Amino acid sequence: MLVSAKEMLNKARDGKYAVGQFNINNLEWTKAILLTAQEQNSPVILGVSEGAGKYMCGYRTVVGMVNGMLKELNITVPVALHLDHGSFEGAKACINAGFSSIMFDGSHYPIAENIEKTTQLVHTCDVLGLSLEAEVGSIGGEEDGVIGAGECADPDECKAIADLGVTMLAAGIGNIHGKYPANWPGLSFETLAAVKEKVGDMPLVLHGGTGIPADMIKKAISLGVAKINVNTECQLAFQAATREYIEAGKDLQGKGFDPRKLLAPGFEAIKATVKEKMELFGSIGKA
Ligand code: G3H
Ligand code: ZN
Repeated sequence: MLVSAKEMLNKARDGKYAVGQFNINNLEWTKAILLTAQEQNSPVILGVSEGAGKYMCGYRTVVGMVNGMLKELNITVPVALHLDHGSFEGAKACINAGFSSIMFDGSHYPIAENIEKTTQLVHTCDVLGLSLEAEVGSIGGEEDGVIGAGECADPDECKAIADLGVTMLAAGIGNIHGKYPANWPGLSFETLAAVKEKVGDMPLVLHGGTGIPADMIKKAISLGVAKINVNTECQLAFQAATREYIEAGKDLQGKGFDPRKLLAPGFEAIKATVKEKMELFGSIGKA
């Protein structure tokens, strides 16, 4: 059964580790992430962007697929199905479809409007027992059409949003979606510490988890980050493994063209990436 992310994130915050959010795109992605979580006895969050939701034929299809897998694969670790960078309309659609966790990304609105829209969703999610993530500041780069300026969050604005009663807060701290450029100055731990100071126990979310050096991940966790989002890294791992298979001509040998064979190396590569991240985030054995 899908669960809200609240309990797993509070436990992660208290235990000084982070739960990975891994974005899904299709059946292979979902199965690879769920099986890895079960094998590693780790809680996990499946992220679905609005674009990926459309690609997978709508939020109800996603909920049906994930719930089916939880049963058929005997997944017993805590799993939250989470809307990633949702609009206000997208949040309502995912709530109706049966998601167990919602991110409303109101970071591009003036703070008063972000507060007003987040407040409405806090009430709905509270009543239904769903977890809610809000965002302040912005994550640089682009993810599935969501473009951010990369502004570091204002700690007072973070407090205003945290005080509404959201479950978790994503604060821009110089993190970027996609690959980090060579001249990236790194995460702003000054901003993270100032946000933490203002929001107290609120579990913090680090977006743009692809390619952040291990020492920065560890430091971010020590400063209150309890959820880390990874998307691009699984895509790159899938791409490299699939390319290798095709460049080796394996799709031309025997039944190598069968999608169940053709997609297998990419599937294994996602599993390996997710396991590596769970090790780094410290969530293994914490289910
Ligand atoms: O919301 C999802 C992410 O923040 C993932 O970022 O693609 O850079 O790993 P990433
Ligand atoms: Zn993100």
